[in-house]
Amino acid sequence: MKLLVFAGSTRAQSHNRKLAREVAAMARAGGADVNHLELGDHDIPMYNADLEARGTPPDVLKLKQLFFEHPAWIICTPEYNASYPALLKNTLDWLSSPVKGDPVWGDDMRFSRGKVVGVLSASPGALGGIRSQSHLVPLLINLHCWVAPTTYALGRAQQAFDDAGHLVDEAARRRVQAVIDQVLWAAGRLHAA
Ligand code: FNR
Repeated sequence: MKLLVFAGSTRAQSHNRKLAREVAAMARAGGADVNHLELGDHDIPMYNADLEARGTPPDVLKLKQLFFEHPAWIICTPEYNASYPALLKNTLDWLSSPVKGDPVWGDDMRFSRGKVVGVLSASPGALGGIRSQSHLVPLLINLHCWVAPTTYALGRAQQAFDDAGHLVDEAARRRVQAVIDQVLWAAGRLHAA
């Protein structure tokens, strides 16, 4: 199963980037074919329809194809003001905007329709960014994703990882593993050949 893992942060010491790396490693260890995407490696401007009218940016087209090729995704989202960050909104808005006149990418939901998506969050706060998930999930459903009901919010994230970037708490590892397992299980059934 091809799994795309990414975080909604580009910060060097981001807890969510650490979590995404750990998810990728855990899923790989379980045999998944994992693609760990760093949004910071891509040049995605702030969405503007006038800019888009001059041509969809090349990295948006690259990401549309990348997301399309992965039947399963796991997103690690920060929480900003009880919601998810602009980076995620802007990226998903670009990806869901149809490329006018394009026989393939004229379909706005081609990149997202039917994907099985696991949602995780990490925050220094005690709630682990759980409120970001409650805003991100409706957006994903709007994009016709199947959101896994098992989720996890990693609180006190500044203490959650050791120097090698691994989750120190066994209970946290189990909760993360449960999300990975459910996403891969559901994607295997929904995308069976
Ligand atoms: C935050 N942060 C935050 N944390 C939280 O648990 N609930 C919140 O509502 C907010 N709000 C918020 C707003 C803004 C504008 C910023 C910049 C930050 C703190 C946030 O969780 C913290 O900076 C994380 O470390 C961000 O995630 P990464 O970059 O570590 O993945």
